[in-house]
Amino acid sequence: MPRFSRRSFLHLSAAASTAAALRIMSEPLLAAAARRRPVPAPGAVVIDANENPLGPCQPARDAMAAILPHGGRYSDNLTDELVNTFAKLEALNPDYIRATVGSTPPLALSTIAFTSPTKSYVTADPGFETGMMTADHNGARVVKVPLTKTYAHDVKAMLAAASDAGLFYLCNPNNPTGTLTPRSDIEYLVENKPKDSVVLIDEAYIHLSAAPSSLDLVKAGKDVIVLRTFSKVYGMAGIRCGFLIARPDLADKVLDRGGYNFMPVTAVVAATASLKDPTLVPERRRINATIRQQTFDWLSHNGYSFIPSESNCFMVDVKRPGQEIRDAMAKENVMVGRIWPIMPTWVRITVGTQEEMTKFQSALQKVMKS
Ligand SMILES: Cc1ncc(COP(=O)(O)O)c(C=O)c1O
Repeated sequence: MPRFSRRSFLHLSAAASTAAALRIMSEPLLAAAARRRPVPAPGAVVIDANENPLGPCQPARDAMAAILPHGGRYSDNLTDELVNTFAKLEALNPDYIRATVGSTPPLALSTIAFTSPTKSYVTADPGFETGMMTADHNGARVVKVPLTKTYAHDVKAMLAAASDAGLFYLCNPNNPTGTLTPRSDIEYLVENKPKDSVVLIDEAYIHLSAAPSSLDLVKAGKDVIVLRTFSKVYGMAGIRCGFLIARPDLADKVLDRGGYNFMPVTAVVAATASLKDPTLVPERRRINATIRQQTFDWLSHNGYSFIPSESNCFMVDVKRPGQEIRDAMAKENVMVGRIWPIMPTWVRITVGTQEEMTKFQSALQKVMKS
């Protein structure tokens, strides 16, 4: 398990500490804990939590402004509209879609639903930590299986490692490496998993890559849950919206663990407007890929090793304890990271704006040469 010092947690806000006590660790909490201070200094380059610096698209901003006077109503019909919009776009049965406040809650609740002291949680290493931390808190065995040489999930090793698996977590593209797992491997996992286990496919970053979605496995009635979020390509991390997509019996089992609540109307209308904007995904994928490629070119040119990513984050090898570089970069007002214990000299970098990445480059050169 990633270890955080008590001291680092003391700097978190009260809300963050409460969530930490519940072990529902989200990307911003993990970033803040690793950052060792609660709020970045003014003007800081914040590329440590895989956020989208572009924020919500204009139609989403307009929709939020228009709904504000009606914020005194629950207006759950708006959530139905969001679900129906997504169902139509993806040719899904609306009964298979549940709107959620980002994808952290359904990830944690799925872990609680399908793991236990006798049902393990199986994940890639390095992998996104929310599920493993929740599983650990739930008394489940956490089985961390190293990625393959091409940084894909090693599905055969994952299957071999845990005949008692309750939940297989597969993040595609993976956080933190930004690398893809081939479709054939995902199918192999789903077809060969132990009978009562569930495969959770986290597609938080799917739109930033050209990888096919696994939604068709849900449509085919498999024991598969797909999670989506509006926090990444849609730039709505602070607004909070996501989906759990699964057979209704699986979705109910997850959300029975405390997942039923009204959605914030601002999030719902912004998400609906974002889905209806046909330019958003291709345009933002292109912007992210362009800045990412320019950064990779610069890294190659300057002799740095990195993992080619298909997402909005990538790992760079700083060839010394990653935390030293994170701390030194923070002094330059550039927040990067975090570090995964299995790759102690690698630091995760989020793709920011062109300007932010230029500042990142200058700071990295400075700290690496000092
Ligand atoms: C892989 C992955 N899944 C889920 C999430 C949760 O995001 P949110 O709760 O903002 O939807 C994140 C956030 O960074 C993530 O990286």
